[in-house]
Amino acid sequence: MNVDLQIKNKESISESIKIDSKKFYIESYGCQMNFADSEVVASIVSNEGYDSTNNLNDADLILLNTCSIRDKAEQTVRKRLQGFNKLKRNNKNLKVGVLGCMAERLKNKFLEEEKIVDLVVGPDAYKDLPNLIKEVNEGRNAVNVILSKDETYGDVNPVRLSSNGVTAFVSITRGCDNMCSFCVVPFTRGRERSRDPKSIIKEIEILVNKNYKEVTLLGQNVDSYLWYGGGLKKDFKKISGLRQKTSINFSKLLKLVAETFPHLRIRFSTSNPQDMSSDVILTMSKYKNICNHIHLPVQSGSDDVLKAMNRQHTRAEYLTLIKEIKEIIPDCSISQDIITGFPNETENDHKLTLDLMDKVKYDFGYMFKYSERPGTFAAKKFKDNVSELVKKNRLQEIVDLQQEHSNFRTNNYIGKSVEVLIEKESKKSNMQWSGRNEQNTVVVFNKEDYKIGDFVNVLIKKCTSATLIGEAINPTNK
Ligand code: SAH
Ligand code: F3S
Repeated sequence: MNVDLQIKNKESISESIKIDSKKFYIESYGCQMNFADSEVVASIVSNEGYDSTNNLNDADLILLNTCSIRDKAEQTVRKRLQGFNKLKRNNKNLKVGVLGCMAERLKNKFLEEEKIVDLVVGPDAYKDLPNLIKEVNEGRNAVNVILSKDETYGDVNPVRLSSNGVTAFVSITRGCDNMCSFCVVPFTRGRERSRDPKSIIKEIEILVNKNYKEVTLLGQNVDSYLWYGGGLKKDFKKISGLRQKTSINFSKLLKLVAETFPHLRIRFSTSNPQDMSSDVILTMSKYKNICNHIHLPVQSGSDDVLKAMNRQHTRAEYLTLIKEIKEIIPDCSISQDIITGFPNETENDHKLTLDLMDKVKYDFGYMFKYSERPGTFAAKKFKDNVSELVKKNRLQEIVDLQQEHSNFRTNNYIGKSVEVLIEKESKKSNMQWSGRNEQNTVVVFNKEDYKIGDFVNVLIKKCTSATLIGEAINPTNK
């Protein structure tokens, strides 16, 4: 950190002491976990004397937290990196680092392929950033992509970046043990491990004390959360006695968070159908502050494709789970992820996906064309043999059908009152607030005297497929 005595300007008679610290700029791509990780990184980098900046031109250190989930995500990052060439020509001291999944996947190769990059850091190596930054500032490239069996960053208090001051992500697990055959995440984020519930509660407590009103508990597969004192999940069966009895699974964690913070809205993501237990659904129904929304990726409606994807459930099991959710929580919204054009997917497989969508009528969803990821089981064993055109057409059909279903779902709210947590100004009008109901649908309404962070009951008058439009009827006293 440089301490400069600065004369403000020629006319100024007063002198001021300015702490001219170095600045870092961080940009995140991909899943919510990456955004949460960037807040951990910001905390670690800030402790090294760097201030955060939103202006690239001011930065001494640019960090991109990258995503590898589809080829397109990687291409976006590569293009972004090219854009930094000019900045580097103008500022010889500028360092560029890549973090996250692409760093983990490409390792040292990144330095060869993208000459602009000085620093490559995988998702489990952020605590090494102080050393790595020192290395690059001394003119050497630095790489750490070691994956860990126990790192959860439970002891790092994240710096909330571009926060609305109302909603925040809190990670509860890292990594994934599922090995879906198309997915690069188990390779880039390593083995699944759960975070100590004490550190989760502590992080939420800090947020609540700062007046945050909603948290989303994050993990690749939250329902498989399991704390028994640390260690890999696969080793849980090897222990016995009290440690096994006092273990905390996801439904117990939800209960703990809901009871400790009765006025906090609680969300979670993502649920894997094979791991979602009745206990979780019952806990959701018992606690009003746990939002009635489940993101439940299905990927395909065909058993043949599900099997080739190494998803551990059948179409029938998935539909039974949906039935159970709707029986216990009738107003629970459900959203999906679907992949179209997986290797060998036939027209009939595709029809089965459309048919499953018709049965569930998801509230919303995220739909993707299959993108072969190097190193995955699918890349090794199957030919990426569905043509681009067929993938594109199938995707369009799926997107169109989802649009119909989303419309059907939002129309159902018309004439009903929903509780909204105000998060920000509406993008379309500075006279309106924007927030979400507990089902995670965006609601906009006139501002009146309400403010960001208020819970308001809103009577829904109109809708589009993605947004509810209404009128505030009264605050809900939270
Ligand atoms: N469990 C994770 C899933 C991460 S990936 C979570 O927390 O959300 C998010 C979604 O990306 C997956 O559900 C899947 O639908 C999609 N996806 C993953 N790998 C893909 C690939 N190779 N091609 C296309 N889509 C993919
Ligand atoms: Fe990927 Fe399947 Fe895990 S989609 S993140 S391997 S649950």
